Amino acid sequence: MATSTHPISSTKNISFISTNSSSPRNFSRRPSQIFLNPNPSRAARRGDVIKIRCAAASSEGRENPADSSLSEAKLDRRNVLLGLGGLYGAYNIAGGSNPFALASPIPPPETKSCGPATISNSNGKPVPYSCCPSTLMDTASADYYKIPSFSKLNVRPAAHAIDDDYLEKYKTAIQKMKDLPSDDPRNFYQQANVHCAYCNGAYQLAGKPYQIHFTWLFFPFHRWYLYFYERILQSLIDDPTFTLPYWNWDNPQGMILPEIFDDDEESPLYDKKRNQAHRRGYVTDLAYAGQETSASDFQKVKNNLAIMYRQMLTNAPCPLLFFGKAIRKETGDTGPGMGTIENVPHNSIHRWVGDPRSPHNENMGNFYSAAIDPVFYCHHSNVDRMWTIWKTLGGNRKDITDPDWLQTEFLFYDETKTLVKVKVEDSLDNVKLGYTFQKMPTPWKDFKPTRKRRAKLRSKASVSASTSVLPATLNKITTFCVTRSPTSKTPGKEELLDLHLAFDDTQFIRFDVFVNEDDDVNTKELDRVEYAGSFSNLAHVHKDTSTTANSTIKTPTFSLAISELLEDLRLENDDKILVTLVPRAGGSFVTVNKAYTEIIDC
Ligand code: C2O
Repeated sequence: MATSTHPISSTKNISFISTNSSSPRNFSRRPSQIFLNPNPSRAARRGDVIKIRCAAASSEGRENPADSSLSEAKLDRRNVLLGLGGLYGAYNIAGGSNPFALASPIPPPETKSCGPATISNSNGKPVPYSCCPSTLMDTASADYYKIPSFSKLNVRPAAHAIDDDYLEKYKTAIQKMKDLPSDDPRNFYQQANVHCAYCNGAYQLAGKPYQIHFTWLFFPFHRWYLYFYERILQSLIDDPTFTLPYWNWDNPQGMILPEIFDDDEESPLYDKKRNQAHRRGYVTDLAYAGQETSASDFQKVKNNLAIMYRQMLTNAPCPLLFFGKAIRKETGDTGPGMGTIENVPHNSIHRWVGDPRSPHNENMGNFYSAAIDPVFYCHHSNVDRMWTIWKTLGGNRKDITDPDWLQTEFLFYDETKTLVKVKVEDSLDNVKLGYTFQKMPTPWKDFKPTRKRRAKLRSKASVSASTSVLPATLNKITTFCVTRSPTSKTPGKEELLDLHLAFDDTQFIRFDVFVNEDDDVNTKELDRVEYAGSFSNLAHVHKDTSTTANSTIKTPTFSLAISELLEDLRLENDDKILVTLVPRAGGSFVTVNKAYTEIIDC
């Protein structure tokens, strides 16, 4: 099956992992082989480090990382409630354990108050969509779910490695789900609506549309969602060992739309609302932003691995950086901030699969419709696997300990059509839920980006300070210097590059962040140390509960962990760093108001 003519296999100076020859299914074109840098950390140390200097700070003076803007981000609700604002303003946003916590977790949504969701704005008017459960049982009638005992763990397989028997079972189960009466809560479309209801404003929290994305609820919500979905599939084919396969997009062998969803247009796994250009072996772009990259397949695979390294390791050393920021019962913030994996590649893959011919990039490209495409569950099965793998990567990569997170509850229908309540704290360990994942290579773990830059930087001087460049709308590549305190990497501490954003969340947006680059940055190559990370917004609309024109504008702080990167660039002793922002999509819908660095406790 391995093709020696594939661009990836013809590159020199690389070592190969051969294609899994036991894989029973055949692909026309697949990134079947990939190099691995034999000693990435040594390579990272090779080569000249070109440093650039920033112009002297503007007349507005040094940016002070301790200035007042920080306190907005750090001032959590309890500071307000307890009047302790100044006293422990240092409680940080990236930790996750708060010794002063008064647990006030988010309760399960009120089914009785479920209302119309909103899928878009058309001429300023919301376009409603109905996705409340058709069997409206009362939330108060729901009991806590008890995890049934099991004698053997189920194994979720990689989608590219399943055999024909398994595929037949999968198709049968999905077909049976589609054939259930349309008001049965286990019905395929009722199940898809569960996702819409938790995302597009059918439920309310603190008088605002409840949204589990862009928050720390992203991982546990989807884990429970898939858990019940899988149990429904099992019961429909009477096979308690059946599991949802995972789309192994972090491994070169899985970096295409899994063939099982695309090999037969009559299959219940097929969905015609997909990007037709991304079928049949087209290499996935984990940073997809709505346009095809001109990078070669070989470069795309390298970019994908570099992105995985950044999002699982460099940018996710602390719990809240990985999981996302807190959403509190009292404030019901819609969109305090995404975790690394939710941002990229999760959002990019949704968009990569969604159909550009559909008005809202349906199905996968919009939350309200995403779960109508069977590939959704396969995509999220791998997102779920990332949670499990992340906790094995060491350091502070552990679950959040804040009781507000642990005690948050969701509602689902189980395989017996019973409405049940579940808690985040019961979802932390997939093994306790009875399943694990087929082992597959994780080449991104060894894919520490290396230095690539050969050409000279534009200039060593005259790059303006962020205080003179910002605020700026990202309709072009934007470069500025950020002042920092020289300090090296310390265990348990992390330096963040924080960007205060204001963006329109009804728009698809993506920009990339580079450090120690300038305007002639090579935007095709992400597999190098200067690439710090990306921001990505999946367009979506909530019911507009306010009358202000600005209600779709979100103002989160986007934080990138840069300690490792500064060390690799040998910039840890510098008092300024050069930051370059490269808009890739929707740049005119995002403004960067401020940039600064801070040191946090993980
Ligand atoms: Cu709930 Cu991938 O989205």
